[in-house]
Amino acid sequence: MKVDVLLGLQWGDEGKGKVVDVLTPNYDVVTRFQGGPNAGHTLEFEGQKYVLRSIPSGIFQGGKVNVIGNGVVLDPALFKQEVEQLEASGHDLTKRLYISKKAHLILPTHRILDAAYESAKGAGKIGTTGKGIGPTYTDKTSRNGLRVGDLLCNFDQKYAKAIARHKEILSHYDYKYDLEPIEKAWFEGVEKLKQYTFIDSEYELNGLLKEGKSILAEGAQGTMLDVDFGSYPFVTSSNTICAGACTGLGVAPGKIGDVYGIFKAYCTRVGSGPFPTELFDEVGKTIRDLGHEYGAVTGRERRCGWIDLVALKYAVMINGVTKLIMMKSDVLDGFDIIKACVAYNINGNETDEFPFDVTEGEVTPIYKEFKGWKKDMTKTKSESEFPAEFNEYIDFLEDYLEVPVKIVSVGPDREQTIVRYAE
Ligand code: GDP
Ligand code: IMO
Ligand code: MG
Repeated sequence: MKVDVLLGLQWGDEGKGKVVDVLTPNYDVVTRFQGGPNAGHTLEFEGQKYVLRSIPSGIFQGGKVNVIGNGVVLDPALFKQEVEQLEASGHDLTKRLYISKKAHLILPTHRILDAAYESAKGAGKIGTTGKGIGPTYTDKTSRNGLRVGDLLCNFDQKYAKAIARHKEILSHYDYKYDLEPIEKAWFEGVEKLKQYTFIDSEYELNGLLKEGKSILAEGAQGTMLDVDFGSYPFVTSSNTICAGACTGLGVAPGKIGDVYGIFKAYCTRVGSGPFPTELFDEVGKTIRDLGHEYGAVTGRERRCGWIDLVALKYAVMINGVTKLIMMKSDVLDGFDIIKACVAYNINGNETDEFPFDVTEGEVTPIYKEFKGWKKDMTKTKSESEFPAEFNEYIDFLEDYLEVPVKIVSVGPDREQTIVRYAE
C-alpha cells in the first residue's frame, strides 16, 4: 500500500483537520509529518468542536493508529494541555497515539528565542505563532537539537547543555524572560509525554505498508508557507509540501500515492508577508466575518482575499496534486460577484508564475469575474443540487489547475462534505 498525503495549498488554515477526520475511515493509520503546535486543526462533529495542534486529526474515528512522525517538533507542555483537553471529553489516546523517537523537542528556551527574534525584527517581524518553531528547526539543522528519544537517556545533561547555549544567545538580545514557570510546565509535560510509546516510526510505518495497511499523512501549514517554496522569509521553518512527507516519515517517494491538495474557495493568511489578492475593503471584512477567519489557536485576525490561482497552480505543481478539495465555498453563498486571480501584472508585465520575490515591484492581480450562485449551500447533500453558477466556478478551477475537485466542503461539520466521485 501507499501513503496518501493531504496538504494545504495556500497559507494554511484551509480546513485540513476537518477533511482528515472525514477521510480517516478509509485508512488504517493517520500521521503528522511536519510542523508542530503552530498548527491549529479544527474538527466539528456531533455538536462538538475540537482544535488539534500536534496530535493527528485521525484520533476521533474508530480507534485508528495515529503517529507523530519524525519531522514534527513537539512541545511537551502544549502536548499535555492538548491531551488533557481530549481526556476531559472522554478520549483516551494512550493506545492509539505513537510518537517518533526522532521528533525534535521544542525546549522552553526555544519559545523565548522565538519571541526575542521577533521582537528584534521590529516592523519586519514574521508574525510567528510564538511557539518556538523556527528556533527548534534551526537547532535541528545545526545539529544542536534534542529529540523525543533523548528523554530516555541522560536527558538532564543534554538539556542543561542546550539551555546554557540558548541562555548565551539570549544574553545578546535585549529581551526579558522568566524561564522558571515555563520550565516547570515543560517538565510536567515530559511526564505526560512519557506515558506514550516512543517508536522508530520509519520502521513501523514501512512495516505497516508492507502488511498492506493504508496511511494518510496530514500536512500542517500550507505550501505558501513552505521554507523553500513559500513567500520566503515570511514562511514557517519546515517543508510543508509533499516531499516533506518523505523526509518527515521516512517513506520513499515511490511509496506516495494520492496527493490531496486542499484550498479555500477564497484565500486567507495570518501573520506578515505578501498576499497579492488581499482585500482591504468591505468585501475582505465580509469574508472574514462570514468565514469566522480568526486563528484557531491564537485568535488572530486572518487577512482575507480572493482566490489566487497563480499561487494555487504553483502549489499544485510543487506537490504533484492528484485530487483537489475545495473548502468554505458556503462563505461566498451570498456574493453577487466572485473573483479569481488568473495572472499578476508586475511592473507592467503579465505573468501566471509566482515570482521570486512578491514584494519586488507592484503586483496587481488580474481577475476573472464569476456570477455568484446566491444559494445557501450549507445543507447541500449531493452534487446534483449544485447551482449552475457554482458548477461554472468549479469547472473553471479544474480547467485552470488541471486537476479534478474531488471533495467540496460546505460547512465546518463532518457531515457538510460532498464527495463528487468515489475514486
Ligand atoms: P486547518 O488548520 O487547515 O485544519 O484549518 P483551521 O481549522 O485552522 O481553519 C479552518 C476553519 O474553517 C475552522 O474553523 C473550520 O471549522 C472551518 N471550516 C472548515 N471547513 C469549512 C467549510 O466548508 N465551511 C465553513 N464555513 N467553515 C469551514
Ligand atoms: P495550520 O496547520 C496558518 C504562519 C504564522 C507565520 C508563519 C511562521 O493550522 O494551517 P511559525 O510559528 O510557524 O514560525 O510562523 O507561519 N503559520 C500558520 N498560518 N496556519 C498555520 O497552521 C500556521 N502555522 C504557522 O502565522 O506567518
Ligand atoms: Mg489552522
